Amino acid sequence: MAGKTESNLKTAFTGEAKACLRLLAYAEQAEREGYGQVAKLFRAISAAERVHALRHLKLMKLVGPTEENLKASFERETSISENTYPQFIREAQEEGQQAAALGFSHARDAESFHAKLYKNALEHMLAETSTDYYVCGVCGYVAENGAPAECPVCGARAEKFQRVT
Ligand code: FE2
Ligand code: FE2
Ligand code: FE2
Repeated sequence: MAGKTESNLKTAFTGEAKACLRLLAYAEQAEREGYGQVAKLFRAISAAERVHALRHLKLMKLVGPTEENLKASFERETSISENTYPQFIREAQEEGQQAAALGFSHARDAESFHAKLYKNALEHMLAETSTDYYVCGVCGYVAENGAPAECPVCGARAEKFQRVT
């Protein structure tokens, strides 16, 4: 695929993916304000934008076989944790943006653990073992086989982790 349609699909994918997440944040805010029904509406439209984003992504034919996807994901995590976030951390520190620096730093550390999980998965793609993953709701660290008492990246307690089956 080429031309305007390719570039429009890319733009549409990015816009829909952002909307999907933005609406989840709006839903959380609505819950905090006690607007349960509005929160539900934001979650429903978020799910709809997810449908659009995934459909555009598939049309771009950027989803390959699983082994390739694992490799590409490993490379992205490695590059973002070794290059992108370190630069973002420095720039946030230079500008005195401590909260952003901490967020970038947690993300950098979590991404390097994500890279390890991908590498491990690449080496054991056909293994019969089964594990559940636990995602830290503060920093995005991913643990296997149970939530740790304390997150190794940000120190959050076990109850901040969400199980992914
Ligand atoms: Fe949409
Ligand atoms: Fe990641
Ligand atoms: Fe964490």
